[in-house]
Amino acid sequence: MSGIEIERRLPEDFFAAALRDDVLKGLTADPKWLPPKWFYDARGSELFEEITRLPEYYPTRAEREILTARAPEIAALTGAETLAELGSGSSSKTTLLLDALQAAGTLRRYDPIDVSEAALAASSTQLQERYPELTIHAVVTDFEEHLAIPDSAGTRLLVFLGGTIGNLLPEERSVFLGRVRAGLRPGEWLLLGTDLVKDPDTLVAAYDDAAGVTAEFNKNVLAVVDRELNGDFDPNDFEHVALWDPRAEWIEMRLRARRELTVRLRELDLVVSFDAGEELRTEISAKFRREGVERELAAAGFALRQWWTDSEGRFGLSLAEAV
Ligand code: SAH
Ligand code: TRP
Repeated sequence: MSGIEIERRLPEDFFAAALRDDVLKGLTADPKWLPPKWFYDARGSELFEEITRLPEYYPTRAEREILTARAPEIAALTGAETLAELGSGSSSKTTLLLDALQAAGTLRRYDPIDVSEAALAASSTQLQERYPELTIHAVVTDFEEHLAIPDSAGTRLLVFLGGTIGNLLPEERSVFLGRVRAGLRPGEWLLLGTDLVKDPDTLVAAYDDAAGVTAEFNKNVLAVVDRELNGDFDPNDFEHVALWDPRAEWIEMRLRARRELTVRLRELDLVVSFDAGEELRTEISAKFRREGVERELAAAGFALRQWWTDSEGRFGLSLAEAV
């Protein structure tokens, strides 16, 4: 049976309550921080799409190159009937996998899972046109708070692309991978995209582009907070900062106050003050090496079956089997 279904896994007020909690915790902490999932309202999802087309942002092109080369092999190895995808966004690279699974004759169902309902609605409609026979079951959820991999008969291939796993802290990552494993049966598959450690100039440029799109994306989190919590952040008061941390091997994104200022969040009855130059941490994007990925997968109960990179060795794609 084909058709689109959008399932909301979380209670109606979950996002409002979670945002309040996060903002209250993060903006009263020292140093201040905000979790990255709040970047992705409709505008944020659009801005991320723009990022993927920037000359400096190589991960999307590198991952697409690998998928183009390997999708038929992935389809043959997994024989998947259901393709499920975490943080699917626009699903634009996913069509490479859907095409290959369709050509192999096994594909029945696509389950995109994302926190952005706007992104899910848009991508589901587009995919239904392209694959009229496909059953699309979209799930709006927060994969950190409530990971829901829909059950279905037949083998599932779960994909998590874009290096989004790097946006979790190492401890969060191991909890998350354990939950992913618990949501699959032995013999089912995980396809994981990870950006790789490389020279800092290339890395920093990917998160601080000349056109300023990443800066706008980073500041979008302030617009989300203003709208949802009746705040008066002025994005112009903040400067986008992207730093490479060579010890942790991650890029850290921050917003730096250009002057001393206070912000009122009326919904929370909260006044937050920033010193001039004070930084608000918004996101990390960890970069990986093959050994680390293999080790973390093994610790969660996955055996790495294939490891591929693009021709320039910038990005890694792992195919792992639940054991
Ligand atoms: N997979 C796409 C998009 C990557 S951007 C690509 O490779 O280009 C990261 C995606 O993950 C966004 O669509 C965002 O909405 C989603 N996302 C981020 N944090 C999330 C969370 N906690 N739960 C569910 N989805 C999340
Ligand atoms: N998953 C993407 C990454 O880590 C998300 C991302 C790209 C991002 N550019 C960003 C997040 C800028 C915040 C700010 O590459």
